[in-house]
Amino acid sequence: MNNKYLLAEDLLLIKNGLLEEINQFEGKVICLTGAMGFVGRYFISFFDFLNKEVFKKPLKVFAYDNFISSSSDVIDSLSLDKSNIFFEKKDVCKSFNLTSNVDFIIHAAGIASPYYYRKYPLETINVGFNATKNILEIAKKKKSKVIFFSSSEIYGNPDPKFLPIEESYKGYVSCVGPRACYDESKRIGETLCAAYHEVHSVHANMIRPFNVYGPGMLQNDYRVLPNFAVKFLKKENLKIYGKGNQTRTFCYITDAIIGFLKVLVHGLPGQPYNIGNPKPEISMIDLAKLIKKKIGNLDFSITDYPDSYPADEPERRCPSIYKAEIQLNYKPEIELVQGLLKFFGWCEQHYKL
Ligand SMILES: NC(=O)c1ccc[n+]([C@@H]2O[C@H](COP(=O)([O-])OP(=O)(O)OC[C@H]3O[C@@H](n4cnc5c(N)ncnc54)[C@H](O)[C@@H]3O)[C@@H](O)[C@H]2O)c1
Repeated sequence: MNNKYLLAEDLLLIKNGLLEEINQFEGKVICLTGAMGFVGRYFISFFDFLNKEVFKKPLKVFAYDNFISSSSDVIDSLSLDKSNIFFEKKDVCKSFNLTSNVDFIIHAAGIASPYYYRKYPLETINVGFNATKNILEIAKKKKSKVIFFSSSEIYGNPDPKFLPIEESYKGYVSCVGPRACYDESKRIGETLCAAYHEVHSVHANMIRPFNVYGPGMLQNDYRVLPNFAVKFLKKENLKIYGKGNQTRTFCYITDAIIGFLKVLVHGLPGQPYNIGNPKPEISMIDLAKLIKKKIGNLDFSITDYPDSYPADEPERRCPSIYKAEIQLNYKPEIELVQGLLKFFGWCEQHYKL
């Protein structure tokens, strides 16, 4: 396999985590948006792998991306079988249709990194609303099952007494702050899914991922762990913003893809699901210390938030995954240090220093 955006061993991990589910995809047709983003590349590569290594009857994937926050250079290096995986550059905010039947829609298009949504606030709102509406119209016509990629950001800055956050927590979110374009785009996307389910019986699920990371996150992604990895590899000082006490949980990509596809197969229609790894909930300072202890020397310091960074950062974030455990039999397996070693090892091979 010649795919430099992931680890081959990870495709096997995903397959082994989905032994009960993968036959549901054999011979089926999938529409995938945001296909050249971090998560999208894993989906498309996993489906390509299933066609090449597992399925007798291949699945077909119609995949789209407009490259607003990703790169068109990626496509050739994925080495996809183009007789079953059809990629097209397309802005899915513009109305579109598919002549084929569509069994499943994975709507992962979005502008996820704070760096990019600060740069493209209107496009961020647009993809949450217009693209989601387009996708749901297709699902209505084709009777497809849909997963919409929402975000843990829809909870905003939660009251600590509601941690770990269950899906029923309504959120504490500003509709006008610097993060609002992203948070509200995901909230309206979820509202659309719920309304299409209620009015048109579309089988839609909303997925709320909690900081997914892994090989394939690009050097210019600007989310937490790629930032840490760049500074670590360049041996530069890592600036941790604020007091450094803000906490997150981190879910390795294989556990996340397993969870996402379990939602697609088993999710109850109209329902949201948290997907993440609740352990450990770790502060940015402790994350830096952990990297220093387990991976190698990392020089870091605390500094004020720069103007380029969106204010109102959530202080704590930690999911309850009880619903996914009970309803989907979801259980993340990769421990943080194990995942960090894989991720930093991959970055060392692929980031340009
Ligand atoms: N990775 C995470 O930790 C995380 C956490 C919460 C939510 N999410 C959501 O999950 C989805 C996938 O995440 P990711 O990490 O792969 O994000 P990503 O930013 O790496 O990828 C998203 C892709 O969507 C594409 N896109 C954006 N607008 C588009 C449009 N109008 N038409 C076509 N393509 C468009 C971008 O070019 C990009 O390639 C996103 O919707 C994101 O908001 C991810």
